Amino acid sequence: MPPENLRVEFDKRFGGNCNIFRAPGRVNLIGEHTDYNDGYVMPVAIGFDTYVACAEMDSGKVVVQSLQQPESASFAVHEAQPHPVHNWTDYVRGVLIQLEREGCTLRGANLLIDGHVPIAAGLSSSAALEVATALALLDGSDHRMDNTMIARLCQRAENEFVGSRCGIMDQFASLNGRDGKALQLDCRSLDVRFIPLPEEVSLVICNTMVKHSIAAGEYNARRAQCEEGARYFAQFREGIRALRDITDADLQRHGGGLSDVLLRRCRHVVTENARVLCAADALESGDLKGFGQLMYDSHRSLKSDFAVSCPELDIMVELAAKVPGTYGARMTGGGFGGCTINLVERNEARRFSERMAKDYQDATQIRPEIYVTGAAKGAGPAVDKTKQQPWMSV
Ligand code: GLA
Repeated sequence: MPPENLRVEFDKRFGGNCNIFRAPGRVNLIGEHTDYNDGYVMPVAIGFDTYVACAEMDSGKVVVQSLQQPESASFAVHEAQPHPVHNWTDYVRGVLIQLEREGCTLRGANLLIDGHVPIAAGLSSSAALEVATALALLDGSDHRMDNTMIARLCQRAENEFVGSRCGIMDQFASLNGRDGKALQLDCRSLDVRFIPLPEEVSLVICNTMVKHSIAAGEYNARRAQCEEGARYFAQFREGIRALRDITDADLQRHGGGLSDVLLRRCRHVVTENARVLCAADALESGDLKGFGQLMYDSHRSLKSDFAVSCPELDIMVELAAKVPGTYGARMTGGGFGGCTINLVERNEARRFSERMAKDYQDATQIRPEIYVTGAAKGAGPAVDKTKQQPWMSV
């Protein structure tokens, strides 16, 4: 729904004016499961947004509703021991708790959410919700925070209240996305290099429509394995704080002392970090073939070493590799379902999408969703004009 309609709907439900903020989802071009290892990633913000309409109230409570989800919530702003209720409203509440901890005191608010980021597809619908909520609530307070502080705050909301130990990538990308540019982000220093996407390529996202329920537990388990790996290597050399600090030589020299599973997990992170750096150079120099090859390599590593792919994602990548005009393809996001990201010659993007829709359905009997997108701009106040969708759905 365009922001002006959301405003009308807000008035109908709550009465009165509101401010509207938007935050986009993201797709990661390369650098998966590296952010929580202090490593490198390369996301872009995409043309799907979550909107949060908000009015500050003196009610002492926050009321939150959604245009898409049946659940709603109403909670006291200063409740002593809040507990998650395990639905989407936890993201809003998690952000509120963190804002309060930062000294941003709220008197109450009504919130209406309009989400357009596909849910549970690995495109960061939760980060978009957190970021748009934080911006909306901050707007009504005197508290000022820069994008980096907001990204960290939203990450803490997810880590501490929702219970997913995610890294910083999604929230950072949602806040700092730029039109036509990929962000090569160093997740330790948060230094970012903006790399223009060449005109002649499109980003095509293929949604397998599969979501495996093991995902949440497996994500935290991977993170724990990475931390164990880092602790193991730290005994051999000073200055190792995370897998980011491990070199190929460390792996060769000491990897033999790890279990097979831990060695694979560490190897994925070490090689994936190296791939991101090579991919950034390839993109900058216009070497799309080289970039695409790194995407395929990344997928292989995620599948065999990190074990976060699934048959449907593998099929999507294999099918894409056969279509003319494809430079590269890989799973994107946490894994176990969700989407692949494909780098495709712009002139071929429509044909690619149509063929993928058909071939995937033939192979799996599942009808996929395919989105052709570019790199979009990061979160901010919503613009009240009928917005043209910067993506096309097939
Ligand atoms: C999820 C998390 C991110 C990141 C990716 C994997 O999207 O939210 O922080 O770890 O998985 O790269």
